[in-house]
Amino acid sequence: MDEPQTAADHAALDAFIDDAAHLLGADGAAEPAFDVVVVLDFGSQYSQLITRRVRELGVYSELLPHDVTWAEVAPLRPKGVILSGGPASVYAAGAPQLPAWVLEQGLPTLGICYGLQLLAEAYGGRVASADHREYGSASIEVVAPDAPLFAGLPPTLDVWMSHGDRVAELPPGFAVLARTGNAPIAAIGRDTIVGIQFHPEVAHTPLGTEVLRNFLVRVCGARTTWSADSFIDATVRDIQQRVGDGRVLLGLSGGVDSAVTAALIHRAIGDRLTPVFVDNGLLRLGEADLVRDVFARAFGMNLVFVDARARFLERLAGVVDPEAKRKIIGETFIRIFEAEAERYGPFAFLAQGTLYPDVIESATAANTAAVKIKTHHNVGGLPADMTFDLLEPLKFLFKEEVRAVGRALGLPEEIVGRQPFPGPGLAVRILGDVTEPDLDLLRRADAIVRQEVDAAGLTGEIWQAFAVLLPIRTVGVMGDDRTYGRVCAIRAVTSQDAMTADWARLPYELLARMSGRIVNEAAGITRVVYDISSKPPATIEWE
Ligand code: XMP
Repeated sequence: MDEPQTAADHAALDAFIDDAAHLLGADGAAEPAFDVVVVLDFGSQYSQLITRRVRELGVYSELLPHDVTWAEVAPLRPKGVILSGGPASVYAAGAPQLPAWVLEQGLPTLGICYGLQLLAEAYGGRVASADHREYGSASIEVVAPDAPLFAGLPPTLDVWMSHGDRVAELPPGFAVLARTGNAPIAAIGRDTIVGIQFHPEVAHTPLGTEVLRNFLVRVCGARTTWSADSFIDATVRDIQQRVGDGRVLLGLSGGVDSAVTAALIHRAIGDRLTPVFVDNGLLRLGEADLVRDVFARAFGMNLVFVDARARFLERLAGVVDPEAKRKIIGETFIRIFEAEAERYGPFAFLAQGTLYPDVIESATAANTAAVKIKTHHNVGGLPADMTFDLLEPLKFLFKEEVRAVGRALGLPEEIVGRQPFPGPGLAVRILGDVTEPDLDLLRRADAIVRQEVDAAGLTGEIWQAFAVLLPIRTVGVMGDDRTYGRVCAIRAVTSQDAMTADWARLPYELLARMSGRIVNEAAGITRVVYDISSKPPATIEWE
């Protein structure tokens, strides 16, 4: 990594931590509103998950690069530190090291897997390659039942292991807290410094949450005050302070993030928020009405509703290339948004629904463990002379936290539980030319897919389920007549983060119901196919 890059990353990290410290009340107040336990990332695929689990337990947590300095961390006033796992061997050349401040500050520390091995080495123990790589479920025996980490837990626990190295010699002054058949040293401790070989953050360690809770509450003494409600209170105060009597502009997409951002800012400053919703005609059935019902009617916001359906369709006429569609839709949106900003402005702030995972970037390749705070420029496309301060109240939150905040603010489930939907909307689900009749056809087929997934109680398990309209015609028969109709593909995938996805194994009966309803209710579609490709090599969307 070259120098300027590092300097920029650290400046962004510092600014982010300052904002977080301000929100938490850690900058100045005698008693901050929230306690913090930081997670240092040594490159594990589970690092973000650890941070999420800590927050689910009511303690604010941030995922930080393993080489973060104490000067950077200090404003958060952490009550404890968790060292993540990682793919390296502690004794390998170039392996990520434990920052000196972790020992110097003497904060309560939990090392997980690689983190345990780092602690063992740092305190004078020895780490060696295990004879048998341990990967998968294992059972640990707790040999120190009085250890706070295992308080209230049974003497044996099912855990998830994933390691090639193990602690071969205990560091002086440490005690063995747990062992497995394969690893005589599966957990160690000395006062508030503890390490575990297993992964408490994954679902395969059923009581892992309790182990983490014990660390947070009994070892760190952290208060569990982080919740949707307390976040809302703190953020409302923060927004009021920052915005003063200024006015805020927000682009409402109908998606979860912008919806929750709007509801939160509206709670803080009421009518000084102007949400702009652009109906581009590429939305799903009933979506534009839902936005009007919720934001204008139920919440009483000053919603600027722009009916731009004709304008988008005109500009898309005859365009078949997916990237050209995206470009046209993006640009058309920006021009409309710009005009509305002029009309209703001036605005001192532009609000955006940036989330925590948008801000941090996790790199898990061997020996390149790093979570960098990205400087983000999502406002791309607005003219340079339109200057706003950015208001990003969700930048501290994971997606599930955003949904919880949305529910606490009274947003309906149809909005907070919404599956991801691409900005270019149905335009990238009509392969080829986008026309009004095809949009209408696709809307009806798509609504059936989603209704049936919902009725089968599968919405929570499916990342996205939708219909795609293909540009080919196919022969069919209806009654005594030969038909020559359209083909609709059903796409349903499971995924954690959209980076990879698997096609959902929907029950045949469910597929049969969807297919039957689509050919009956979406006249013109005579054939339905199910997409059984995973990502990679396919993508989730067809265009
Ligand atoms: P792919 O098709 O790349 O999609 O596997 C990954 C995720 O991103 C969504 N997606 C988009 N979202 N603008 C968006 O805002 C886009 O142009 C776009 N293309 C894909 C897609 O729905 C999936 O969740």
